[in-house]
Amino acid sequence: MSSTGGERRLLVRDLAQLATPGGTAAPLRGQALGEVDVLEDAYVLCAGRSIEDVGRMRDLPRLDGDVEELDGRGLCAIPGLVDCHTHACFAGDRVDEFALRASGATYEELHAAGGGIMSTVRATREAGEPALADTVRKHRGWMLRAGTTTFESKSGYGLDRETELASLHAVKAAGGVPTWLGAHAVPPEFDDADAYLDFALAEVLPGAAEIAEAADVFLERGAFDIDQARRYLTACREAGLALRLHGDQFTERGAVSLAIELDARSIDHLEATRDAGVAALGRSDVVAVLLPASALFLARPMPPGRELVEAGAIVALATDFNPGSAFCESLPLVCSLAATQLRLSPAEALAACTINAAHVLGRSDRRGRLAPGYDADIVLLEAPDWRYVAYHLGANLVADVILQGERAELG
Ligand code: NIG
Ligand code: FE
Repeated sequence: MSSTGGERRLLVRDLAQLATPGGTAAPLRGQALGEVDVLEDAYVLCAGRSIEDVGRMRDLPRLDGDVEELDGRGLCAIPGLVDCHTHACFAGDRVDEFALRASGATYEELHAAGGGIMSTVRATREAGEPALADTVRKHRGWMLRAGTTTFESKSGYGLDRETELASLHAVKAAGGVPTWLGAHAVPPEFDDADAYLDFALAEVLPGAAEIAEAADVFLERGAFDIDQARRYLTACREAGLALRLHGDQFTERGAVSLAIELDARSIDHLEATRDAGVAALGRSDVVAVLLPASALFLARPMPPGRELVEAGAIVALATDFNPGSAFCESLPLVCSLAATQLRLSPAEALAACTINAAHVLGRSDRRGRLAPGYDADIVLLEAPDWRYVAYHLGANLVADVILQGERAELG
């Protein structure tokens, strides 16, 4: 087989297995969500930044020209993982709050008392753009070591013009997909949520819409109500942003119907969603993004994962990486939680944090599958069977990451 025009080529050969969401469709739902294609004794050939070919070693054609080779013996290849929901741009930590929660304080009580999200807002406002950019780069390194090759990150810890825009810039500079979470909490300089939204939509949205790809809102008791969320999201849609919602985390307040009404890309959390919400998502094209590490970290009920899959919903998985409710950057751990707590099969979990997560980020035409034409983002797991990604609880099995056709420095 001849090279496609002098591009750098990398052959990963003799893989124990190669596993990828099957077919060409995206997003996947219903039975197709669980249909992973597995090739034993496999190879993947990268040309430049793309995948040129995948197959069985016995079918490997003769390759002319310079080809770098990587020994895949004892390794399984899966697509680079896609984390479609993180809050990676923050300063400081919440380790004191974490310790307080262990002795009985709840997340919502800490938030209501001016701690929680607002304590991270105070630290993030003080940090300045260079420090924020360093922090996002550091967090991106943590994610990469856990196998995440594409990440989204929200702003939402600035809540003033300067820090929100600096956060979005920092995410983009670190290679992330920025989402403007302008409606995360009401900062103390405003009397109420409506006054804050007047400011955010007039003063921040025009700049945010130039950097971000989507907008997000925290629709919850103590944050924004349904009318405020509708107003915020409608303005963001008019500015050209895709729409996301944090909904049904603690209480059901109409977030599912609002997401469907506004044709949002996703609704994320859903720990409190009951049967009617599950059925409505099953009939809709809004992705249900499940964040079981957040439910675990806050000792909250898990979202109804199996029920959503059975209802035909488009399900994705993400970490929700943030300093307060999910200090966890590991999608493999999320896959373990999906299999043990949400009753998703390893195959459903893999599709949920690859091709379906790529769909949430508008990138399913080139991310989230190991197939010709897709980006050469590949995770090599040190395991005899790809399902170890969910099975080996808490382990980091990532031996190597190929990012855009090159071996990544994992540090
Ligand atoms: O998705 N629930 C709202 N936002 C984040 C948590 C942010 C924080 O606690 O700092 C979440 O869980
Ligand atoms: Fe979140």
